[in-house]
Amino acid sequence: MEATIVSDNVKHYSVLLKEIISVISPQHGGTFIDCTFGQGGYSREILKYQNTKVIALDRDIKSENIGKETQEKFPNRFLFKNLRFSKLKNLKLKNENIKGIVFDLGYSLPQIKDLEKGLSFNSQGELNMMMGKNDFSAKEVINNLEGKEIEKILRFFGDESNAKLISKNIIKERETKKIDTQELVRIIERSKRKKKHKIHSATKTFQALRIFVNNEITELIYGLIYSAKILKKNGVLAVVTFHSLEDKIVKYFFKNLSENKSISRYEPKIQQKEILFKMPIKKPIVPSDKELKENLSSRSAKLRYVIKQEDRFEIESDILDKFSHLVEIENQGLKL
Ligand SMILES: C[S@@+](CC[C@H](N)C(=O)[O-])C[C@H]1O[C@@H](n2cnc3c(N)ncnc32)[C@H](O)[C@@H]1O
Repeated sequence: MEATIVSDNVKHYSVLLKEIISVISPQHGGTFIDCTFGQGGYSREILKYQNTKVIALDRDIKSENIGKETQEKFPNRFLFKNLRFSKLKNLKLKNENIKGIVFDLGYSLPQIKDLEKGLSFNSQGELNMMMGKNDFSAKEVINNLEGKEIEKILRFFGDESNAKLISKNIIKERETKKIDTQELVRIIERSKRKKKHKIHSATKTFQALRIFVNNEITELIYGLIYSAKILKKNGVLAVVTFHSLEDKIVKYFFKNLSENKSISRYEPKIQQKEILFKMPIKKPIVPSDKELKENLSSRSAKLRYVIKQEDRFEIESDILDKFSHLVEIENQGLKL
């Protein structure tokens, strides 16, 4: 596993790096899109193989410096774009032979440790949570949305069983003061019925707010759809997820386009829809014991991948309908 030293005390590990490389096989050359460049661990590993090119994206402008260094080292084989992966269709790909597209969702350690970003409930400052290229912050969510909307965010994106009480208490508190990170933690702690938890009592609420602020569900759905379109025949789409909601979406998308469920043996005349992907393994790949020992925060990582079976840009997926209830919640952010 690669460890990049970012500063004296912040080390970033590229999760499931060996496994990603083994499923996308860069030794055969081709162009790869690294949708979540971060500290560049995946991109650099791919570039070790001659005849590869990497187009890397990251919404966080702080990745750009590492992007520039990589570009200087590989001027003809690497390109960094400060872009959200839902905008993949804006890339001018000319006749690129896209052999692999990778996503490593979630946050890098330097982002979590970045006090300005306020992603963690240990931060002392204002509620922010913006990863980059955002339209609003967590502070605006907490201080402006209606209680019912905040409750939905906490319930659907954080699976928070005390969502109603927490949102009620947020509404009450914000009448008299602006709520910052530590104030929110106190509200959550006071609202919890069960006092002893295996995880920190603010974990679920903070996860929910991060997902909402960064539009993560909509980002992922469009990222998957455009990846499936632009990938070439035999190209690999590989995604590392970190929570069950993300994994559910990826699993649904992959399975749905890999199996032909619409065909019933009682309706033999219905024309068989072509299957877009092959899914070599149904179960996700998870970190080895060795990786877990070196980097405990990889413990919730799951890698799923599919191989595109034909060159086809038009794809038929009902993923937007399937998860429309979640996309609608994220659309509440348009009001802010
Ligand atoms: C876990 S890190 C990736 C680490 C990377 N694989 C490495 O080896 O260094 C995730 C990165 O994805 C970026 N990211 C998250 N959502 C994104 C989106 N919708 N579009 C572009 N980048 C995104 C984050 O800013 C973060 O830098």
